[in-house]
Amino acid sequence: MQFPEYRPRRMRRTEGIRRLIRETSLATDDLVYPLFAVPGKRVKKEISSMPGNYHWSVDMLVEECSRVFDLGIPAVILFGIPEKKDEVGSGAYSPKGIVQKAVNAVKKAVPELVVITDVCLCEYTSHGHCGVIVEGRVHNDETLELLAATALSHAVAGADIVAPSDMMDGRVGIIREALDAEDLEEVGILSYAVKYASAFYGPFREAADSAPQFGDRRGYQMDPPNVEEAIREAQLDVQEGADIIMVKPAMPYLDVVSRVKEEFDLPVAAYQVSGEYSMMRAAAEKGWLDPQNVAIESLTGIKRAGASFILTYFAPFVADILAGR
Ligand code: PBG
Repeated sequence: MQFPEYRPRRMRRTEGIRRLIRETSLATDDLVYPLFAVPGKRVKKEISSMPGNYHWSVDMLVEECSRVFDLGIPAVILFGIPEKKDEVGSGAYSPKGIVQKAVNAVKKAVPELVVITDVCLCEYTSHGHCGVIVEGRVHNDETLELLAATALSHAVAGADIVAPSDMMDGRVGIIREALDAEDLEEVGILSYAVKYASAFYGPFREAADSAPQFGDRRGYQMDPPNVEEAIREAQLDVQEGADIIMVKPAMPYLDVVSRVKEEFDLPVAAYQVSGEYSMMRAAAEKGWLDPQNVAIESLTGIKRAGASFILTYFAPFVADILAGR
C-alpha cells in the first residue's frame, strides 16, 4: 500500500470511522482500585503524595468500596498501615491485623466486589524491608513462612485473591501449599511476578510509610534493564501455581508487559504505580497536562501492550469518564 492509493488519513476523518477501526478498548471492567486501610474510626485522610487517594479507616473503607462497586469497578486491592511496626512485621499476619479486618468488613458489605490483598511485610516491618533481616540482609527462606501466614490470614478473612509483592524466591509455591492445606483452593494468586526496583514507588512509600530504613530493595526487586530475567521470574511463578502474573510498574515497562503476554497463556496484569499516577496528577495541577486525556491514554497504552487488566489509582476517575459522568 502506497500513497496516493493508500491515504491513512481517510480512516481517521471522523469519530465514527475512528471508532469502527479502533484496535484497543479500555473498559471499567479492566480496572482494579488500590486502597489503604488504617486503624481508627471515621478516618478519611488525603495522602499528600497521591492527591485524590486517602487513608481509610475500615468503616469508611467499606463505604468507599460500595461506591467503587456501584461505579462498575470489579475489584480493589487492599494495603494496610498497622498501628505498630516491628522487626518481623507481625501486623501482616495477625488475624486481627488491619487488612484482615478490612477484608472481612468489605466482603460482608459488598460481597460481589473482588477483594485482592497485597501480601508483603514492608508496611509492617520497623526497618521497612519486605522480609526478615538476618545479619543485615533480607533472608529469603525465613521470610517465606511469614508470607504464607500473611496470605493465609487474608484468605481466611475472605480475600478472593492474594497478591504477593515481596519478590522472595519460592513464595508463590509456599503460599499455594498453605492455602490448599486449609481447603482454600479457590483463593487465587495474583503474583507480582515481574516487579522492578523502581523509583516510581516513591509516593506509595510515603502513603504506606514503608521506605526502607537502610539500604534499598535492589537485592530482591528486579534490575530495571532486564527483560529476559522477567521471563524467568514469570516462568517460576507460573510453575509454582500463579493464576495471574503481574508486571510492575507499567509505563516504563510496556515492552515487558508485551513479552510476558506473548510467552505465557495466563492473564497478565499491569500496575500503574503511585509515581506514574502522581506525576500525571501533579502536571495536571500545574495545567501542563489534561488529566482526563492522559489517564485514558496511559491506560489504553498499557492495554495495547497486552495487559488483561490494570491496577490504577485513576480507577474511579476513569470509570466516571468512561461512563460519560
Ligand atoms: C509492597 C508494595 C509496594 C508497592 C506495591 N506493593 C512498594 C514497594 O515495593 O516499595 C508499590 C505500589 C505503588 O507505588 O503504587 N512491597
